[in-house]
Amino acid sequence: MSVEATAHGTSTINREKVAALTERELRRLADRTPQSKQRHERGLKVMPGGVPSSFQENDPWPVYLERGEGARVWDVDGHEYVDFHNGFGVMCIGHANPQVGAAVKARVDQGTHFAAPTDGSIAVAEELADRFGLPQWRFTNAGTESTMDAVHLARGATGRDVILKIEGSYHGHHDAVMVSVYPPLEALGERDDPRSVPYGEGYPKALTELTRAVPFNDAEALEKALAKLDGQVAGLIMEPAMMNINIIPPVDGYLERVRELCTAHGVKLIFDEVKTGATIARGGASRRFGVRADMVTLAKAVCGGYPGGAIGMTEEIAALIAEGRVHQYGTFNGNPLVMAAAEATLTQVLTEDAYAKLESSNDWLLGRCDEIIERYGLPCYTEGLGAKGCVIFAGEPLREYRDYLTKVDGDLATLAWLYHMNNGVFMTPGVEEEWTLSIAHSEEDLRRFANALEAFAKDVTGD
Ligand SMILES: Cc1ncc(COP(=O)(O)O)c(C=O)c1O
Repeated sequence: MSVEATAHGTSTINREKVAALTERELRRLADRTPQSKQRHERGLKVMPGGVPSSFQENDPWPVYLERGEGARVWDVDGHEYVDFHNGFGVMCIGHANPQVGAAVKARVDQGTHFAAPTDGSIAVAEELADRFGLPQWRFTNAGTESTMDAVHLARGATGRDVILKIEGSYHGHHDAVMVSVYPPLEALGERDDPRSVPYGEGYPKALTELTRAVPFNDAEALEKALAKLDGQVAGLIMEPAMMNINIIPPVDGYLERVRELCTAHGVKLIFDEVKTGATIARGGASRRFGVRADMVTLAKAVCGGYPGGAIGMTEEIAALIAEGRVHQYGTFNGNPLVMAAAEATLTQVLTEDAYAKLESSNDWLLGRCDEIIERYGLPCYTEGLGAKGCVIFAGEPLREYRDYLTKVDGDLATLAWLYHMNNGVFMTPGVEEEWTLSIAHSEEDLRRFANALEAFAKDVTGD
């Protein structure tokens, strides 16, 4: 029997048992979701992978959803779940939110698209300026467009080509950032000089080489990279807290030092707050950590479940657009329907009180998870910020992507996900993901997550 002692949890994890439980729970999930299977087979005939976006693919097949209300969603087999996935961190306002619904319905009756500016875009830009302390805003249709435009602006502002990013981070699927996203261990290269690894095919080598990676939470490594590439780097794009390999918060002083180094080297600092912007504080990570970037990119929760994004910028950068030097375009930018949703989301629903509630719900859930981890001696720990949290299946805190690659127990993370799905918790698929709470989550809803984790803990550590 293969038994592996884990370094930090007190329980030993029996690998054969984990494999058997995984097989059992996968079968259970398959048996419970025949209608999803049927949808998947139908979808496969017309969509690659049977899904509209590859991030929705999953084993044995994706669970197809029918509807959502508040903190709950229902799948096509009629199962009800408490939603902790929340549409990859979008639905902090809860499903079918009545305030956002009313704003959108009112807009529908007044026309939904003109490609001419309307009051909505001014109101949302004013609200974002107040939240993030950046004076000028433009709108986009998704996070990918926000980060793409930010890269163009950094290059336009500096006349330089090289973009720095954090190793192991995801910023959407355009050429400049599809580099060193999830590189495999053997492709990484030296830690102080990582290779630029394309994330899949279809990206020209010449463009991939223009993006260089540095490790997260290491200002010295950044300093060295900037010295080596002096005069070549246009911008550094980064999540202030990494959110795509579970959650990795910045260590004390790191973001401040990053800010200083970017200023010293004439490099534009882009905080990609697509995940953090509307979920971890009223002014996102910028406000929470008190560091101001030259640009902030937003999407996801900011438009309350409608497809939109935004870029915040300094006056100096905004002038590049205003003077027609950098082109920031889009037929649907500032679409009235999306702006109505964003305005209601930001001014009526996600208020300071709402952020306080999200934070206290999250603390409560993190506390319950900590108790379970402790009680069963599980080799994992919790991390949380605002509406977002996760159980990280590693024996010690992660600081950067290389830790994630070498320390996370993917088998346990996958098994925990299956326990959630089979116990009425709709949880984000993937070893690297986190939960997102909504203002609709009640204590009973949160308890369901903890109960599913406890069922997993009992089985995995029991005889
Ligand atoms: C930090 C970050 N930036 C950008 C994106 C891309 O956003 P979108 O999927 O809306 O294009 C994502 C998506 O997950 C993200 O997490």
